[in-house]
Amino acid sequence: MKTDKTSSPADIKVDISRSKSAAVGSDHGISPGELREMEPAVLAAHKVLRRERREGTYGFYDLYKDKAAFKSVKQAAEHFAAFKYDNLVVLGIGGSALGITALHTALSEPYHNLMTRRRRKGLPRLFVMDNIDPDTFRAMMRVCPPEKTLYNVISKSGGTAETISQLMIVVAALEKKLGAKALKDHLVVTTSPKGKNAPKSLLHPVADAYGLHTFDIPLNVGGRFSVFSPVGMFPAAMLGMDLDAMQAGCAAMDKRCAKGSLMENPAYLRAVVHYLLDTRKGKTMSVMMPYADGLRDVADWYRQLWAESLGKRNDLDGNAVFVGQTPIKALGATDQHSQVQLYREGPNNKIFNIIEVRRFSRSLRIPEVLTSVRELGYLRGKTMNKLMAAELRGTLDALKSSARPVVRVTLPRLNAHSLAQLLYMLEVETAMAGRLYHVNTFDQPGVEEGKRIARRLMGGDG
Ligand code: PA5
Repeated sequence: MKTDKTSSPADIKVDISRSKSAAVGSDHGISPGELREMEPAVLAAHKVLRRERREGTYGFYDLYKDKAAFKSVKQAAEHFAAFKYDNLVVLGIGGSALGITALHTALSEPYHNLMTRRRRKGLPRLFVMDNIDPDTFRAMMRVCPPEKTLYNVISKSGGTAETISQLMIVVAALEKKLGAKALKDHLVVTTSPKGKNAPKSLLHPVADAYGLHTFDIPLNVGGRFSVFSPVGMFPAAMLGMDLDAMQAGCAAMDKRCAKGSLMENPAYLRAVVHYLLDTRKGKTMSVMMPYADGLRDVADWYRQLWAESLGKRNDLDGNAVFVGQTPIKALGATDQHSQVQLYREGPNNKIFNIIEVRRFSRSLRIPEVLTSVRELGYLRGKTMNKLMAAELRGTLDALKSSARPVVRVTLPRLNAHSLAQLLYMLEVETAMAGRLYHVNTFDQPGVEEGKRIARRLMGGDG
């Protein structure tokens, strides 16, 4: 398999060969000339991004280097672990929820929440409450009684109605059941820092009133880029994830993404392929289809990152441009039986990100049973691992024969190190794509408007 030149065996690999015109034809794939043409634009954008990183405009690049923040989440996790809570409940939405959900699905044992405390090695169950469905929230409050639960309310703005309403319900339940003094042992706040230039977070007066442990989300880090801040890292530490390995994974990818040269930078290569296929070949949708259950919620996290960062009405000069690829999440092999019919034979308007895990943690052999059914001989004695690899290969080849462009990403194994590389690469890719589309990657005016209207409808100041 072809890879970008800078990778080592522990690194994830990016292969764009199936999105090239040689694989899928010039109407649907990129020619070497088209790629080369982009090099000056990429280099120029790289210089702008490097300068803005140096100036501190975007903080996401350097979150993994923040030793003080990592130390403080580890210390707090140790402190709260001593209470032996059964449950950790995250209250948050969008960028405040999707990162930890992706980490949990990828790195905790499958069915973690259904295991006994002993099987969970004493770790709490995780519930990420990212909606205001009263039935679900009520049910969570029953399943997670306040005395056995640590809540982590996460909101950068500190004013998101969905999250604050959840918090109010939790505070009332804690006060009623355990008394106001107990709140500091059951509620942790993650929000923007206090400061003269910082917008006012409504979580500050709450934290002050009850003496709550509070984590800062740096002002220059947007919600969807915050997974490596305390937003993702405190719950991750509570769940026993290997934060050091995540920092190392980010560092490894940061190094690979330091180059301005398109062909040597996996994030830039992916950004350019997506940008060219969208703007020149009509691939207005981007499907992310991992072939591993553990990566299912990475596709969900990426969906928000790509949509909210790039879906913009105006460009940086104020012109109405209405850009942005529509991200779609899928799962292999499951969605072969749900989506692939459309993907192969429907409109050729999509690029496919097929994510592969080379070695699963375990192997599962298909037993040599049902021997009376001769037709099952091809499965007997093989492994599920081999079947998954064959299904993936089948989809890759089927998409190719229908002239559908694919970018393939391979993780050697699914662990904290490789996952951090993947997330970090997708963040850098999004930053580069934003420059290519010439939009503000880091704002979300379309979301803010809806928030304001909802507040007004509820009788707030809008
Ligand atoms: O990425 C973003 O900025 C958004 O999705 C936010 O994370 C989301 O709207 C929640 O905002 P807040 O963290 O301020 O409650």
